[in-house]
Amino acid sequence: MGIVVAVDGPSGAGKSSTSRAVATRAKWDYLDTGALYRGVTWLAQREKVSEPYEVVDALKKHPLIIATNPENPTLFCGDIDITEAIRSQAVTDQVSEISAHPEIRQHLLELQQKLIKRAMRGIVVEGRDIGTVVAPEAALKIFLTADLSARAQRREKEIDSPAQLLSSATLEESLAQRDLLDSTRSTSPLMIAADAITIDSTELSLHETAQRIWELLKERRLLGLPIVALLGRPNVGKSTLINRFLGRREAIVEDTPGVTRDRVTYECEWNGRDFMVMDTGGWEAKPDGISVGVSGIAELAMQEADVLALVIDSQVGALDEDDVLIRELRKMKKPIILVANKVDGPAEEAQAHSLWNLGLGEPQFVSALHGRASGDLLDKIVKVLPEVGGAQSQDGYRRVALIGRPNVGKSSLLNILAGSTRALVDDVAGTTRDPVDELIELGGSIWRFIDTAGIRKRANQASGTDYYATLRTQVALERAEVAVVVLDASNPISEQDLRIITMVEEAGKALIIVMNKWDLVDEDRQITLDREIDRHLDQVEWAQRVNLAAKTGWHRDRLAPALRTSLTSWEKRIPTSRLNSFLGTLIAATPPPVRGGKQPKILYATQAGIAPPRFVIFTTGFLESSYRRFIERRLREEFGFPGTPIQISVRVRERE
Ligand code: DC
Repeated sequence: MGIVVAVDGPSGAGKSSTSRAVATRAKWDYLDTGALYRGVTWLAQREKVSEPYEVVDALKKHPLIIATNPENPTLFCGDIDITEAIRSQAVTDQVSEISAHPEIRQHLLELQQKLIKRAMRGIVVEGRDIGTVVAPEAALKIFLTADLSARAQRREKEIDSPAQLLSSATLEESLAQRDLLDSTRSTSPLMIAADAITIDSTELSLHETAQRIWELLKERRLLGLPIVALLGRPNVGKSTLINRFLGRREAIVEDTPGVTRDRVTYECEWNGRDFMVMDTGGWEAKPDGISVGVSGIAELAMQEADVLALVIDSQVGALDEDDVLIRELRKMKKPIILVANKVDGPAEEAQAHSLWNLGLGEPQFVSALHGRASGDLLDKIVKVLPEVGGAQSQDGYRRVALIGRPNVGKSSLLNILAGSTRALVDDVAGTTRDPVDELIELGGSIWRFIDTAGIRKRANQASGTDYYATLRTQVALERAEVAVVVLDASNPISEQDLRIITMVEEAGKALIIVMNKWDLVDEDRQITLDREIDRHLDQVEWAQRVNLAAKTGWHRDRLAPALRTSLTSWEKRIPTSRLNSFLGTLIAATPPPVRGGKQPKILYATQAGIAPPRFVIFTTGFLESSYRRFIERRLREEFGFPGTPIQISVRVRERE
């Protein structure tokens, strides 16, 4: 099963167009579950039945067949194409009523889950109950909404047949009516999943809405990296080439011909593009009777990869086995790159020119051993890489780093959070056997707690080497999206606590401060603690704070909501129009201070990125840091970014 993206929301919020745009761009599947409910309604009307059991019976006789291709999502009932028919007003008027029956929902639920399981790389599923009921394990959940009037206007534009022309008022009424029915029915009503990201598309174009989802997919690393498979006979230098790509000696170089290893993939980066390189080991064309077939490993690699690189030892030239492979490669209809390896000098290059005859275009002459032209080859690879590929992506579990100085109670907290649900997970990169992460269920979602081995092993703490503790914290922070910094509330806030908090801020991660050992905090301590917080933590006033007692478990249920709030802020995006109207009002009321007789003008602002939110303000002159802080404060007041640092940079435009 691939990555599942759930898109729920009321009618007319733009779910279909957005979901299709995202699925098309990712080359993923797309499932419009509303179309299925419409299909049932159409069938019920044709068969003139309305009792749930009659409808289900009709469905069994005339099954719905939906295509999951985002570019042509057709719906058939039996062998009748009903793609258009289900958009009629008659169907629209009755669909909410039909879809409220639990029996009918159950029947369609099974169909939906089967279709989702079938998706190889990923699927965008839109509906009303996808994130809550159909695919609660979805890696990304979006709740797409818009003002009622905006939604009615969009519907109005979609309806082009005059017979269907309804006044805006009637349309609004009909939408509102449908929303009400869909949200109040007893079986899986329209609801926002606890871990869904809400996108209000009222002021967004289709492109902007799809872009927003794309940004989230990318930032969470849910879009698989493209895979380049290196294929070729044994001993042509594939592993040496990979070592070149990686810039280090990691892939083992095989000297024994015919020793086949399985497919091994390595992550590479070139010119800012990340991709995977797959070493197929030494595939062999195995004589099978009189015909010669390609080995299973090479075949699998060809199917999984997005780009196929055929490596040939140019000192040997292309052999019959290569021809067999080339025929197979051509069938895949994927970009093919011909690599002529072992071209160590001009003499070999002259000889290698015969490889043009293979008809695979220009051979790339390289010497993996000496590094000759491997940069050119990488340039060529990057040029043909698709945006999204078939490599396994992140699982979508949000990544949490639990950090703090020794003895604040990190491991007791981890124990009480993990309870009996603990599952150890191998390191993502697979470079170590140490189970460093744990999957822990909190508040209805699964979270990936990072490097918990470091918390459980108290060795570092005992030896007290500050340096290694800091290093470990740094590495955990790098991988995390949100940090839970544990403090000992019964003791004064220390320098080291503050250093750790600063590390989180500088790493640009969402932040929760847990005041642990609250069971030891009496009234007097509370008063001094408040003072310490005022004095030392005003820098991170925005952080989420949870008072908690790991020893007893008191308030442990507060952590999941705090994690969600922080992550929502961390990934938040403010539409450019809203940002600038806010800024306009702000500047009019409080213009930037005059400096050296000149008043800098603020031209406009834009949000450059998320995770954490980053803003760029374009001005005609320098903005004092106090004024920047003022802007940040007001930005937080206006839009609210609880739990996340935000970054504001100023770019001074040269005078025209
Ligand atoms: O997305 P749409 O407007 O085409 O959906 C038509 C109806 O189907 C909608 O009013 C409610 C119902 N529906 C549902 O109950 N559950 C879903 N997952 C999708 C649609």
